[in-house]
Amino acid sequence: MGAHESWAYTDIVKDHFMNPRNILKDDDYQEDGLGKVGNIQCGDEMLVVIKVDKDTNTITDCKWKTYGCASAIASTSVMSELVTGMTLDEAFEVGPKQIAGALGQLPDNKIHCSVLGDKALRAAINNYYERSGQSDKVVKEEARIICKCMNVTDHEIEESVLEGARTFLELQEMTKMSTVCGQCKDEAQTLLKVYMKKHFG
Ligand code: FES
Repeated sequence: MGAHESWAYTDIVKDHFMNPRNILKDDDYQEDGLGKVGNIQCGDEMLVVIKVDKDTNTITDCKWKTYGCASAIASTSVMSELVTGMTLDEAFEVGPKQIAGALGQLPDNKIHCSVLGDKALRAAINNYYERSGQSDKVVKEEARIICKCMNVTDHEIEESVLEGARTFLELQEMTKMSTVCGQCKDEAQTLLKVYMKKHFG
């Protein structure tokens, strides 16, 4: 099989990767909210900034910057188009499945790459609420953080199991957890078993 035949991305994914939309290029961009997730040392830091119409609570512009992979780039590019024009409440609900749907399809083992963009977007929305004196609207993750280095919660581990993670390596690839100091590994393995049992008996 030639190298080209193994290219499993849709035309939409390729287009967003080759021509990413809404990349943040302006150092003086005057954002209303900023969210940053990931770890620059792991090479997958993601920055998302938004402008908000204060009267309608609508996102009028969404820009981003990442050192992530092709799927992270395509996912965040399409996400930035998807959420522009949405209310903050609507945008907060946008998740990897919706982003993958807008891209046509992502290879299963690449769905997790889109988590970086929407995570950073939620952080940017919360940051907007804080900056605009609406701290009461900040949605606090009730979930428990299991991986402090990559900010991965027990909720995300459960979601990953539901999305197909069956082994620790798959969980690690989907969430990026346990890729820095590794101290979270034991707890992650325990939770993996707990959620497998809960959902698949
Ligand atoms: S706590 Fe998970 S890698 Fe450090």
